[in-house]
Amino acid sequence: MMRNETFMRTYSPRQEALARAAAQQAATQPAAAASPADMSQYMMKAEPYYRAVADEVELYEAAYSVRMPLMLKGPTGCGKTRFVEYMAWKLGKPLVTIACNEDMTASDLVGRFLLDASGTRWQDGPLAVAARYGAICYLDEVVEARQDTTVVIHPLTDARRMLPLEKKGELIEAHPDFQIVISYNPGYQSLMKDLKQSTKQRFGALDFSYPEHDIEAEIVAHESGVALDVAKNLVHIGERARNLKGHGLDEGLSTRMLIYAGSLISKGVAPLAACRVALVRPITDDPDMRDALDSAVTTYF
Ligand SMILES: Nc1ncnc2c1ncn2[C@@H]1O[C@H](COP(=O)(O)OP(=O)(O)O)[C@@H](O)[C@H]1O
Ligand SMILES: [Mg+2]
Repeated sequence: MMRNETFMRTYSPRQEALARAAAQQAATQPAAAASPADMSQYMMKAEPYYRAVADEVELYEAAYSVRMPLMLKGPTGCGKTRFVEYMAWKLGKPLVTIACNEDMTASDLVGRFLLDASGTRWQDGPLAVAARYGAICYLDEVVEARQDTTVVIHPLTDARRMLPLEKKGELIEAHPDFQIVISYNPGYQSLMKDLKQSTKQRFGALDFSYPEHDIEAEIVAHESGVALDVAKNLVHIGERARNLKGHGLDEGLSTRMLIYAGSLISKGVAPLAACRVALVRPITDDPDMRDALDSAVTTYF
């Protein structure tokens, strides 16, 4: 049993009022517009390729079994999104992904009234859809969202597992299968853009980083179609560049970038040109840095 029943009785008057409103509404109105059948669009059609790096698959399964909200922490392009797609497939649950951005409002998450020919109609936002019908809801790059937007997830992340739709006067009780997952890049945080402690402390966290050499080469070869020895050279270049992080580079070369370079090579682009386009040029404008990275490339190709 996920929900703490006694919690409801000690809960705030406002929430109790919402709950009463919801109960009344449920008695007088049919369920919301979207039907559970719509969830098929959120099901993974095929098994996503995911190469486990440590015990993250088992840890996720354990976290899901108690519906613990999870935070996937790590630099961009290291496999966080792929991992959650894979886990949704493995658990057989729909996955609702929300790419967070600064302009996102609470209504973009929970829903809004729309005007149409027949009057006004409520439309659930993606968070409401996930909570109502039992999806894994993945908020990608959550620090990009404003803090006043992020707080709408709070009631879903504690024992209440509720989502108040204040404008509609409805209180959604999360479906038993619902889980919330966020991704978070610790390198990007600043005082202005970070998660509140009150948000962070609602989540368990899994650390992600670039995989160890042989595993990363396997991933690059699989995803880009290059031979394993070429993939290994790309990973060597990636590792060289990662050592420059903090010494002129803000971020290391991601696995995603190595895959781009490999994809160009497998399309017939010469390795030197492919690495310049996919690895060196995007990551820095500094001429000395570019020279340093170009020479790392020529060491391996
Ligand atoms: N462990 C892994 N198994 C399979 N593919 C991976 C793995 N790690 C990274 N990738 C590849 O790297 C790409 C970028 O990963 P992604 O999940 O989009 O990164 P993030 O969400 O951390 O920014 C993916 O599209 C996938 O091809
Ligand atoms: Mg991602």
